[in-house]
Amino acid sequence: MDEPGTVVIVSRQGSDWTWPLHVLAERYAYRVVLAHSFSEALTTMATIHVDLAIAEDHAGEDAGLTFLTGLRVSHPDITRIYVTSNSDCISEPALSQAAIYQFLLKPVDASQLGLLVERALETRELARRHRILSREFKISGDGLIFGERKNAAFRAESQRFEKLVYVSAKMAELCDLARQAAKTELPILIEGETGTGKELLARAIHYNSMRRASPLLVQNCGGVPDELLQSELFGHKRGSFTGAISDRLGLFRAADGGTVFLDEISEVSPSFQVSLLRFLQEGEVKPLGSDRVTHCNVRIIVASNRRLKNLVARGEFRQDLYFRLKGFEFEVPSLRERPEDIGPLAEFFAAKHADAIGRKILGITANTIEKLSSGEFPGNVRELENEIRRMVALAKDGEYLTTRNMSATLLAASPRRSSEAVAFLPEGVTLKDQVESLEKQIVSRALVRNHWNQSRTANELGLSRVGLANKIKRYSLNEHGQQHQ
Ligand SMILES: Nc1ncnc2c1ncn2[C@@H]1O[C@H](COP(=O)(O)OP(=O)(O)OP(=O)(O)O)[C@@H](O)[C@H]1O
Ligand SMILES: [Mg+2]
Repeated sequence: MDEPGTVVIVSRQGSDWTWPLHVLAERYAYRVVLAHSFSEALTTMATIHVDLAIAEDHAGEDAGLTFLTGLRVSHPDITRIYVTSNSDCISEPALSQAAIYQFLLKPVDASQLGLLVERALETRELARRHRILSREFKISGDGLIFGERKNAAFRAESQRFEKLVYVSAKMAELCDLARQAAKTELPILIEGETGTGKELLARAIHYNSMRRASPLLVQNCGGVPDELLQSELFGHKRGSFTGAISDRLGLFRAADGGTVFLDEISEVSPSFQVSLLRFLQEGEVKPLGSDRVTHCNVRIIVASNRRLKNLVARGEFRQDLYFRLKGFEFEVPSLRERPEDIGPLAEFFAAKHADAIGRKILGITANTIEKLSSGEFPGNVRELENEIRRMVALAKDGEYLTTRNMSATLLAASPRRSSEAVAFLPEGVTLKDQVESLEKQIVSRALVRNHWNQSRTANELGLSRVGLANKIKRYSLNEHGQQHQ
């Protein structure tokens, strides 16, 4: 495991986790999230990647164990530890149903808990490696039946940034920068088409920042009338406008110490832009109908699927606000720009949705992955996920997902990468000329396929990097003007 791991503790009223939390976070460097209710814990698990959960019983009832039993079904790969005040009260069947790693008696000894968590996560990591190895064996076996599955057995394990799954170099670069940006206090602007994962990225950033123990609050700014939006964010005094029947704190103050994510920021009014700018410059919050200014400390992340830069050029968005917002700027690429992510995402969603409805899917056939990978997906990852969810629902237990389960529109779509379908045509007369022209076409297409990433291309073609560089030179290939003659 590259990172030490994330632990969620579901704390019950009246218990004090200060010391165990300190030991886990400081001595072991785990990321520890304290949830105050089961539902808060589930929200955290839906937002960030969690490795281990600790739940406790409360006043003699074993709701903690029931919660862990539910977790076994909804998040089977989260390791479970139970903390109880009285081991006599828990029944053997209930314990085995929850399939916990271990239980501990209260009061919890922080050092013992630390060691237990460490061992549990080691075991988990070993199990994970074992699964990967067995799967690779299985995939290479399936290849014989389902046709050659390009590079599947050798494909790098997909990477993750919290809930974001990817293999593409573009996403890897973006997530690396996002990890660094998370550690700073600067505002963040995330742009990208609909469904590309902007919100998932915003959440990942918050949970990788120093503010992760404080709230992340989300406001969608699209289609919200100006007055309402102002009051949602800055709060209002009772009676400040019709319908304001009581004081309202406002999101900024409610999130003090944490992060506020403003979605569809391109849609806000000029007067809201002024208020937001003032907030960014001075940290000032002035509730509607009040003349008292208060201060709060909130990090802002905004997202837009329209280019703010273009809106600025057209005078529809304040330039000073735009400059303030883009402390870091991210453009999440569309799925078209990273077709190599489609296969791993499809497999991830297939497993996820099969689990959710208890269907036993064996995988996705090579042909189907190929077909999906050439799909258009104007709705990006969200559309892909919907497609896979539908395919899983249509498949039967013990089957692979095949093109038969695909929706008609996707199936009918002509392959996007039509150049792939064009046959290789040797040119020249002599054998040497013809072989060379073929070699040139093969190298050139592999480079395009790998977005001119030379080490990956060399790898794919079984060449050394120097070998590839020589061929590029020999055939005068270049990134911007691919030569085919
Ligand atoms: N890289 C990814 N890995 C896993 N799931 C993803 C990824 N990208 C997006 N998703 C999933 O796709 C859906 C859309 O993601 P998200 O809501 O973050 O997109 P968005 O860019 O905010 O879209 P919109 O502009 O429409 O608000 C979600 O269900 C999310 O879980
Ligand atoms: Mg969104």
